[in-house]
Amino acid sequence: MDRPVLYITRRLPPPVLEAIPQQYRLLTTTSDEPPTATELRQGFAEADAVICTLSDCIDASLLSHTTTLKIIANYAVGYNNIDVAAAAQRGIVVSNTPDVLTEATADLTWALLLAASRRVVEGDTWVRAGTWPGWRPTQMLGAAVSGKTLGIIGMGRIGQAVARRAVGFGMPVIYAGHRSIASPLGVTWVRRSLSEVLAGSDFLSLHVPLTEATHHLIGPRELATMKPTAFLINTSRGPVLDEAALVSALHAGTIAGAALDVYEQEPVVSAGLLSLPNVVLLPHLGSATLDTRVRMGLVCLTNIAAVLNGEAAPNQVA
Ligand code: DGY
Repeated sequence: MDRPVLYITRRLPPPVLEAIPQQYRLLTTTSDEPPTATELRQGFAEADAVICTLSDCIDASLLSHTTTLKIIANYAVGYNNIDVAAAAQRGIVVSNTPDVLTEATADLTWALLLAASRRVVEGDTWVRAGTWPGWRPTQMLGAAVSGKTLGIIGMGRIGQAVARRAVGFGMPVIYAGHRSIASPLGVTWVRRSLSEVLAGSDFLSLHVPLTEATHHLIGPRELATMKPTAFLINTSRGPVLDEAALVSALHAGTIAGAALDVYEQEPVVSAGLLSLPNVVLLPHLGSATLDTRVRMGLVCLTNIAAVLNGEAAPNQVA
């Protein structure tokens, strides 16, 4: 019997490659660059299983070139890059990588929150420039974090992990989401309407998946509802936030600052953001620890093995 073909669209950390079972015929690349449309089409046409990344657009037209493909294992928890309905129509399973990246993404959210409020990047830049004149009582004053209100939009796995970290900062948490979430012992998380969370948060963090319903969930109207002293953090997906509206809000002082890990047109970042000192910008690093990226790969392999063995994928998405 022919060996099943596993196509991997991008270079993955070595421990993931080492864990690939010998019985697969591997089609992959040593490149970090996205595959060309032709490479992607050829890979999908040949494969029984694919591991793809969040920046590979897996649409109906690409799927129309598949004949043997049984599973697309997305190397991400978000799967807005895949036309799941078109895959289902062809009987192709789609899986994602939940849980293993929750803590890493929550950690990075806090790194952004603290960096923006305490002006970490500005301070670092100043020291490196060699122009820091020494300590002054009024120098680089930032915004207090401890005791302030943290607002979370999307209280799923990552939203809850971000909220858990707020306990250490003595921060009350308010959140908007579809369901009530039990808070850890000794802490109260309060569910509110979206507008109440917008208006009541000193720090607002976005954790919804990107869907038609969440596209530009935060736009000019929502930003105008926020406190002028508030900070907005986005580690979910860029298009959840209207980037042009954010640039205007930051220029107008509608909110105090922002910290972003994700963008509407990655890797392009709105020029208006690049020139603002009160914004911290990271290159989509939410899950970027070696440990997490290895575990994400192993989750993909587990899902692939299940489907190729005729079993249900543990992380099949809806
Ligand atoms: C995800 O898994 O959706 C993350 O954005 C990857 O870093």
